[in-house]
Amino acid sequence: MAINAETHLYGIIGNPVNHSLSPLIHNTLFQRLKINAVYMAFEVEKNSLGLAFEAMRALGLRGVNITIPFKETAINFIDEIPENVDRRVGAINTIVNRDGQLYGYNTDGTGFLIALKEELSFNPQGKKILVLGAGGAARAVVFALARAHADRIMIYNRTQERAKGLSDYVAEHFPETGIEVLENLEMISTKKPTLVINATSLGMKTGDKSPMDLHRLNHSVSVYDLIYSPNETPFLKQAKALHWPYANGLGMLAAQAAVSFELWTGEKTGVREAMHEVLKKCITS
Ligand code: ATR
Repeated sequence: MAINAETHLYGIIGNPVNHSLSPLIHNTLFQRLKINAVYMAFEVEKNSLGLAFEAMRALGLRGVNITIPFKETAINFIDEIPENVDRRVGAINTIVNRDGQLYGYNTDGTGFLIALKEELSFNPQGKKILVLGAGGAARAVVFALARAHADRIMIYNRTQERAKGLSDYVAEHFPETGIEVLENLEMISTKKPTLVINATSLGMKTGDKSPMDLHRLNHSVSVYDLIYSPNETPFLKQAKALHWPYANGLGMLAAQAAVSFELWTGEKTGVREAMHEVLKKCITS
């Protein structure tokens, strides 16, 4: 579709953004669905974030994704978080520009819950869940699980202090969710998790080991790895060898991108499936 005077502009704001798959997947989808729009990557310096938001209003960008390192600070520059969005999460990854008013959303958590349901038929409500890691990705996952009424979330991280920080925040904002920081994984089997999630970056690089030896568990659990490249990390290879249900992070990536796309365009039918397919192609090509 030709770019003309009616083309709508979308984008991603972050730093760095040169490795982002978002421009490719959103542009492919715009073309498939014959939507007159383009999606660009904007690498913005920290001190210029406010200016970037002013530009968004002045130039009429229809929407943007926000990525590392601005997901938390971006909240200071928007006009509104819609009523139906949970404010406790404290980070946004999607902005919708409605007549110059900027609305903030976070589709990471929603995308994660969709992926759990669709790929592992797993509903966190009332479940005991082990999360490995305590960085930005773990934070989105832990909030989503708390919002989905998990009974107990156990966090294990190489740097315990970081896990403690995340756990304290969750305890303050989601008092109904049991949260626990594990010093080690020696007794994990007695804690009977039914889902184990890798939210560390271990497994992305060749030669990385698994963040946990799944043989420590003496019962079958569902296993989710937020990493999607490689498509089978050492962690997932273990789950596969044990014949336990497992999934990689592609479904979450596709679902969160699809939810952003739906918020911007109003398109609903088939967006998620198309996003998944496009992403798979991008990753394998
Ligand atoms: P992201 O936003 O992707 O979560 P991050 O905030 O840098 O990135 O977090 C990376 C996570 O992977 C952290 O939990 C980190 O553990 P530390 O808090 O101890 O740094 C974890 N991680 C990274 N490399 C690791 C390794 N070699 N062994 C164990 N954990 C590791």
